[in-house]
Amino acid sequence: MSRKILAANFKTNHTRASTREYVAALDAAMEKMGYGGETYIFPPATALDRFETKNDIRVGAQNAYPTVKGSFTGEIGLEQLGEFGIETVLVGHSERRHILGESQAFIAQKYAWFKEQGFTIFYCIGEPLEVREAGDEAVRRYLVEQLEGIDTAYSKLILAYEPVWAIGTGKTATPDLIETTHAMIKRFSDRPLLYGGSVKPANIEEILSVEGCDGALIGTASWEISSMVSMLEISEKLKTKN
Ligand code: PGA
Repeated sequence: MSRKILAANFKTNHTRASTREYVAALDAAMEKMGYGGETYIFPPATALDRFETKNDIRVGAQNAYPTVKGSFTGEIGLEQLGEFGIETVLVGHSERRHILGESQAFIAQKYAWFKEQGFTIFYCIGEPLEVREAGDEAVRRYLVEQLEGIDTAYSKLILAYEPVWAIGTGKTATPDLIETTHAMIKRFSDRPLLYGGSVKPANIEEILSVEGCDGALIGTASWEISSMVSMLEISEKLKTKN
């Protein structure tokens, strides 16, 4: 089994100071466990920075506006990201779709723009509970709509399947459900596909062992450094075990 991709999404948590401490602790822990791969963190915009690390810790933006600069109050663009050498962005997260009201058309525009800039794009899709309850065909249709306008062959795309009902709820999708949904999504893209939704130290081994699961996008359980380090350790052991 090759190394899985683990990514931490801080959402609206951590400050500039605590992010700095977190990255230093993560770097030290990766050094200690001899973690040879890369890991991603998405801090809030106020904590974006260049971090001097010995290990491959990539910092991404949770959101950005598809512009170099301009009049988009409250947003950040390429110029602001460029100051810190940031070349990774999260697009299509369910909280931006459902709480901030981003449409598929806008998400696709953002995706195309950051693709044009050569960014690594973590692109999230996932169905709400009522769609899951309506059955597999309804889920398939919903997810296909979330891929509308998205170049799924883009070489720097990392997909994340995050069922909305599993995000921040403590409810994780079962391995079977992850496997069948991932198989369905993989018909549309051969890019790495992560699972997200209440991933934590207690279930990450089972999730990463699912056929077709290339890693995890972790919210809540990534905010505590010790919990993130445990998950990296589990992932690393899994890699050497198989
Ligand atoms: P969660 O969030 O791990 O808190 O469920 C996942 C995500 O939103 O990426």
